[in-house]
Amino acid sequence: MRIAVVGGGPGGLYFAALAKQLDPGRTVTVWERNPPGDTYGFGVVFSDETLGGIEHADPIIHDAMAASFARWDDIDVRFRDEVITSGGHGFAAMSRRKLLDILRSRCADLGVQLRFAEAAPDLERLRADHDLVVAADGVNSGIRTELADVFRPTFEGRRCRYVWFGTDKVFDAFTFDVRETDAGVMQVHAYPYDETGSTLIVEMTEEVWQKAGFAESPAVVDPASLGVSDSDTFALSRCEEIFADLLDGHRLIGNKSRWVSFTTVRCDTWHHENVVLLGDAAHTAHFSIGSGTKLAMEDALSLAACLSEAGADQVDLALAAYEAERKAVVVSTQRAAQASLEWFENLAQYTDQEPMRFAFNLLTRSRRVTYENLQLRDPEFVQRVDDWFAASLGFGAEPTRPPMFYPLRLRGITVPNRIVVSPMDMYSSDDGIPGDFHLVHLGSKALGGAGLVMTEMVCVSPAGRITPGCTGLWNDDQRDSWQRVVDFVHASTPAKIGIQLGHSGRKGSTKLMWEGMDDPLPSGNWPVVGPSPLPYKPHNQTPRELSLGEMAAIKEEFLAAGRRAVEAGFDLLELHCAHGYLLSSFLSPLTNQRDDDYGGPLENRLRFPLEIFDGLRALWPAEKPMSVRISATDWAPGGIDVDEAVLIATAFADHGADLIDVSTGQVVSTEKPAFGRSYQVPFADAIRNALVGRDIAVMAVGAISSYDDVNSLLLAGRADLCALGRTHLYDPQWTLHAAADQDYQMPWPMPFAAGRRKPQTGRSDGPKPRLELVRDPEANAVRHGRWRPA
Ligand SMILES: Cc1cc2nc3c(=O)[nH]c(=O)nc-3n(C[C@H](O)[C@H](O)[C@H](O)COP(=O)(O)OP(=O)(O)OC[C@H]3O[C@@H](n4cnc5c(N)ncnc54)[C@H](O)[C@@H]3O)c2cc1C
Ligand SMILES: Cc1cc2nc3c(=O)[nH]c(=O)nc-3n(C[C@H](O)[C@H](O)[C@H](O)COP(=O)(O)O)c2cc1C
Repeated sequence: MRIAVVGGGPGGLYFAALAKQLDPGRTVTVWERNPPGDTYGFGVVFSDETLGGIEHADPIIHDAMAASFARWDDIDVRFRDEVITSGGHGFAAMSRRKLLDILRSRCADLGVQLRFAEAAPDLERLRADHDLVVAADGVNSGIRTELADVFRPTFEGRRCRYVWFGTDKVFDAFTFDVRETDAGVMQVHAYPYDETGSTLIVEMTEEVWQKAGFAESPAVVDPASLGVSDSDTFALSRCEEIFADLLDGHRLIGNKSRWVSFTTVRCDTWHHENVVLLGDAAHTAHFSIGSGTKLAMEDALSLAACLSEAGADQVDLALAAYEAERKAVVVSTQRAAQASLEWFENLAQYTDQEPMRFAFNLLTRSRRVTYENLQLRDPEFVQRVDDWFAASLGFGAEPTRPPMFYPLRLRGITVPNRIVVSPMDMYSSDDGIPGDFHLVHLGSKALGGAGLVMTEMVCVSPAGRITPGCTGLWNDDQRDSWQRVVDFVHASTPAKIGIQLGHSGRKGSTKLMWEGMDDPLPSGNWPVVGPSPLPYKPHNQTPRELSLGEMAAIKEEFLAAGRRAVEAGFDLLELHCAHGYLLSSFLSPLTNQRDDDYGGPLENRLRFPLEIFDGLRALWPAEKPMSVRISATDWAPGGIDVDEAVLIATAFADHGADLIDVSTGQVVSTEKPAFGRSYQVPFADAIRNALVGRDIAVMAVGAISSYDDVNSLLLAGRADLCALGRTHLYDPQWTLHAAADQDYQMPWPMPFAAGRRKPQTGRSDGPKPRLELVRDPEANAVRHGRWRPA
């Protein structure tokens, strides 16, 4: 078998070595256009997990790498004159040049043909002469460009500028340094790689970069003035000045160091006939999670293994298996990298945070590291964060508890913990009356331990229903039935109960969820209304554009429902301004195209929702809080985005809202939501941090399903409350169970007290048998290793 590898970076060389090692009969040739040793970058970092794979694949390469590793465990977060350290992370790093030396020499020993300082022949020739062509030709891959029609790459350019330097300062831990400068916030990511130096990356937003004068560098003004191996010396000396205290008398070193913006590369397909993409050619992931080299080497390992497993004449099967195996890992890494890069892009929103919270926030930014995870790595660090959190809430004198179990005060009510049952329409009522089903549904959720239980969207009129099964509050029978639910919750549980009031607008008159969500009724449709005559989907009714008189009448319906909600005794009232229902459709420019005072600029689009909010606030008891649910993005071009969502939240805060419930989407049917774990939390985060200092709380919702995620995002300051929807349908006692799992003694309903211990599994959970003669006192100690070269 003849294999051509284009590119002698870590991906190409490692693949060549493994492919040759697995079958010495193969002819493997690597083309690298640069001479040996001529490379960019300084140090590369590996996690323990990747190292395990590398160790098994080729112990010779692994041992040579291990002999060169700088190893340490700590991350230092330097922020506002404090250095906060978290241990137990386990890093291994080495110089990129050294890594390439090791890989090259191993390739040579194994008989790989190495053609350095030689550009690869053109693709057609390579393909004709070889059974397989591996495109390991880096982020600007020429082969990917040539076959762009089949690989269908996308390039997402990001907002920050960054530059890689080396330094002769040998840091002893991974160091993040975040500082306010006259131009704005700048950050450094630095880590050692051997006994001589460290990698040091400086990063900032485009605006800060402009303001700091970096755009005036000759290398930026006239890039042609820079030779291929030159660095931007202006940037280097300015960064040396700005970070002089961190560098502590040491120098920055350039190696083709220039300002760049990160580009996330993704490809639809990674292989075509006998050509396959590997490493940066196939995908990139932001450097802040330190994974470019690791991903390239893991790709190499997987491709070599799949080729051997499939057999010599089954290249197509091998390439398909490789892509299937690696794509899942890469997509997940890219998701974490995306969260991390967005965190750094939005860093300025966190610089008011206390250093302890800031450090926790930074460490958990990619969502891969969590509260529980950090507890395993460094329980003392987590205890410090817990202590800080408790003190910040006025509970400093008590033993700490998991963050989700602290109460939250909203006006005159206290929500006993941070878990909320998200509003969920049950489509199970007759004539809008909540029946036994609703009593049992909401009652069981309240018994299940959640601090606040929200009703489904309760409609203010028959025409304001989504489906014929929706509940309402337009008559006294409905009020009395709701009161039965409220009374049960109050009499039998410590939970609070909130009502969500809404009007379906253009999304009304549709089938029950399980008969066809958003589909018009087969018969008995009622006319629907909206700000503008635009149907939700082509087959939905076109809404009638509301006249001012009709809007005034709808406002009266909201107020009448609000009065009945007071009478029913609800603790909190939420106005539903999300998901494309009537008030939401006034807010979004995609659904509101009016040319009167209620359409156009945001100020106008807010007018009707705010008028209703003001009317309700005036009749809702002063000691009771009001919430507003918004869709913080329409996930569609031209629609609401996070910046506008912050303005919407601010407007409601100005009008006296106590809580913003941050959902997204469902406004237009053409939306393209980026679903994933906790996918709406960044919007809650942005709003919470924009409203910091105001007396308003923020609720996050959407695919938050583990108590670990809840604890993490509360501690990091991304939200004050977490609403869980579907999770509560799966487990109505989710909060009680979360308490049991975390060994937290929360009050159980007395009649359930006998069930408060987790049922035993088959094995006894008694004392474990002794397995060691003498226990190792170090075994469970936190690893606080720092890099101390001999
Ligand atoms: C300036 C810079 C600094 C970096 N520093 C670090 C770091 O310190 N730590 C870290 O983990 N990651 C770093 N990265 C990211 C990391 O280098 C990549 O993720 C990783 O090298 C990917 O490996 P690869 O083998 O896929 O591609 P690369 O390492 O980019 O290798 C591709 C190779 O292909 C060669 N090539 C391209 N076209 C041809 C052709 N037609 N013929 C012959 N050869 C060709 C190129 O010269 C190059 O050597 C850095 C990236 C950049 C741009
Ligand atoms: C069956 C069902 C009904 C829902 N009904 C409503 C509703 O009436 N009002 C509302 O604001 N959101 C409604 N939602 C959205 C949820 O409140 C929540 O925002 C969404 O399910 C995401 O949270 P989750 O991932 O925890 O389920 C509903 C969700 C489900 C699953």
